[in-house]
Amino acid sequence: MNDIEYKDEYERLLKIFEEYLNSALQDKKNIPEPLGEAMRYSLFAGGKRLRPVLMLKAAKTFGCNLKNVLPFALALEMIHTYSLIHDDLPAMDNDVLRRGKPTNHTLYGEAMAILAGDGLLSEAFDIIASDLEKTSDLDLPDKVKAFKIIAAAAGIRGMVGGQSMDVYCEKNHCGKEKELNYIHIHKTADMIVAALTVGVVIANAGFEVERAFENYGYDIGLAFQITDDILDEEGDPSLLGKSVGKDKKSGKLTFTSFYSLREAKEEVEKLISHAQQSIIAYDADGFFSCFAAKISGRKA
Ligand code: IPE
Ligand code: IPE
Ligand code: MG
Ligand code: MG
Ligand code: MG
Repeated sequence: MNDIEYKDEYERLLKIFEEYLNSALQDKKNIPEPLGEAMRYSLFAGGKRLRPVLMLKAAKTFGCNLKNVLPFALALEMIHTYSLIHDDLPAMDNDVLRRGKPTNHTLYGEAMAILAGDGLLSEAFDIIASDLEKTSDLDLPDKVKAFKIIAAAAGIRGMVGGQSMDVYCEKNHCGKEKELNYIHIHKTADMIVAALTVGVVIANAGFEVERAFENYGYDIGLAFQITDDILDEEGDPSLLGKSVGKDKKSGKLTFTSFYSLREAKEEVEKLISHAQQSIIAYDADGFFSCFAAKISGRKA
């Protein structure tokens, strides 16, 4: 797959997701303001939507009707959005810029930003539960499994667990390789793995495929977060849309605080080629291989 074909496919899947997101949100009435506005602000602030795109592509690869997977893609993106709102709060990373725009709490205040995050998280599970209610008996076990995958990836053994270790190690100036890996795998890779495996599970593609995409997801998830750490050291803030140099200043346990930049970049390359190997048998058009390859060259 060449660059243009990759971009076309990404745009195609993105469009399907955006149309669904817009129509799903039109049905959401009776949200008190400014809570609804704060939720919508971050949901439409220009995220790359890579988790929904990966989920849709995984499902499409195995012949799934995308209608079946869209509620899960929306729920995951809402959870991702909440995780960023909370991540930027003064009590966590204390950031004022995200995606080139003011962070949620700088516009709506800390209390409303916390509630917008809480709102997105609970709404995500309401969306999944409402979909389960409408589901046929035949599809129910797969959808319940997908529900569990998302809950686990978002929760205390997943993203929240990873974020807790991130904050703990920063505040206590502690942590070693074990903690570093724990942080990166859980705060970032788990949600990316969930995107892929939910797509595979809803498509009912089988256990072997699920394991292959899980392996791919952990490798690209880790490569994605190591690259994020690298970009915090040497990225261009105008392209990144967020501040740089803050990880070091605040004493974060990151890949680049533990290893040299060169070692971090080598690790990313290793993870990317390993990821590509994991799914080679299922990557007919080469989209997943392209996605992985683009992580090391990304600027935002
Ligand atoms: C940012 O994730 C947080 C990390 C896991 C490094 P994304 O880069 O996917 O965020 P958006 O949604 O595209 O802004
Ligand atoms: C955040 O990691 C990952 C989340 C689960 C939100 P970072 O704190 O490094 O992400 P950025 O750099 O703020 O996007
Ligand atoms: Mg953080
Ligand atoms: Mg942060
Ligand atoms: Mg970062």
